[in-house]
Amino acid sequence: MKSRKGIILAGGAGTRLWPSTQVTSKQLLPVYDKPMIYYPVSTLMLAGIREILVITTPEDSDRFRALLGDGSRLGMTFTYTTQARPEGLAQALLLAEDFLDGAPSVLILGDNLFFGNGLSEQLQDVSTRASGATIFAYHVRDPERYGVVELGEDGRALSIEEKPAEPRSSLAIVGLYFYDDSAVARAKRLRPSPRGELEITDLNRSYLSDGSLAVEILGRGMAWLDTGTHTALLAASNFVAAVEDRQGLKIGALEETALRMGYIDEAALARIAKEMTGNTYGQYLLGLLEGSWTGRPSTKASSKPNAPA
Ligand code: DAU
Repeated sequence: MKSRKGIILAGGAGTRLWPSTQVTSKQLLPVYDKPMIYYPVSTLMLAGIREILVITTPEDSDRFRALLGDGSRLGMTFTYTTQARPEGLAQALLLAEDFLDGAPSVLILGDNLFFGNGLSEQLQDVSTRASGATIFAYHVRDPERYGVVELGEDGRALSIEEKPAEPRSSLAIVGLYFYDDSAVARAKRLRPSPRGELEITDLNRSYLSDGSLAVEILGRGMAWLDTGTHTALLAASNFVAAVEDRQGLKIGALEETALRMGYIDEAALARIAKEMTGNTYGQYLLGLLEGSWTGRPSTKASSKPNAPA
């Protein structure tokens, strides 16, 4: 199997968050102390992905490039393309055809935030599956706002529906999808839905109908946060702030993820951190090098925690 490649879909009209998104992309807005897109980038990195295609609106493309660059400083490769109009999540596969070049993929929505113990292992495990698709289901209070999956006794999907008025379960389908190398061909066969979009739910249904859709449960110990409304965005910021303040460890710090995943070494992290010593983010990265990231006692007298690796 070719190495799996990542796709981040970070376009969209963003009108629900106007005026905050009138002149900038939603996925560049901060979630507490870093841009929203850091979180899905970090999630893909934790899944073991090294090559990512970032899909943005044409207007915002330069801003994303300025923020993330070519990825080399993180031991990653980032490439960019644009989606002229928000014509559906499944269009991401069509836009990614050349980038994927026959490789299996993982698509993540640029506004989805995941956090929880064991997430990295779960994603890496799913990533080894050579055939079929894997989606993730998460129990929510308001499933009618999402794609919804109904599971049979054996844990396999019986049905998937996009924003059903009467959901058959409380299991929302999160914005993270693992596909085999047939996804582009399947996306080409899709037709726009009544709302004019190539629906990701229809792509997933194509796998369901030939028995090759797996569903993984993201347990209640995991956080899947939405940033679709002002209230949800604030709640996500408050969540990140509460955890980071308590632990003294950051969620979605890309340089730290790169170090922990072995994509860069301590010397590379030190070079990055030294460019940023004037802010708390850079100071945090420097602090990691003083022992705490491996769980070793810090060499400096400080209140920094000893984090498990
Ligand atoms: O967040 C998970 C949900 O995402 C799933 O449960 C649903 O099945 C899936 O359809 C999607 O629902 P949303 O209502 O959140 O989709 P929305 O149209 O808001 O798009 C999600 C993000 O993707 C949003 O930040 C904008 C971006 N987007 C959307 C479309 C339609 C694009 O970049 N391009 C697009 O064409």
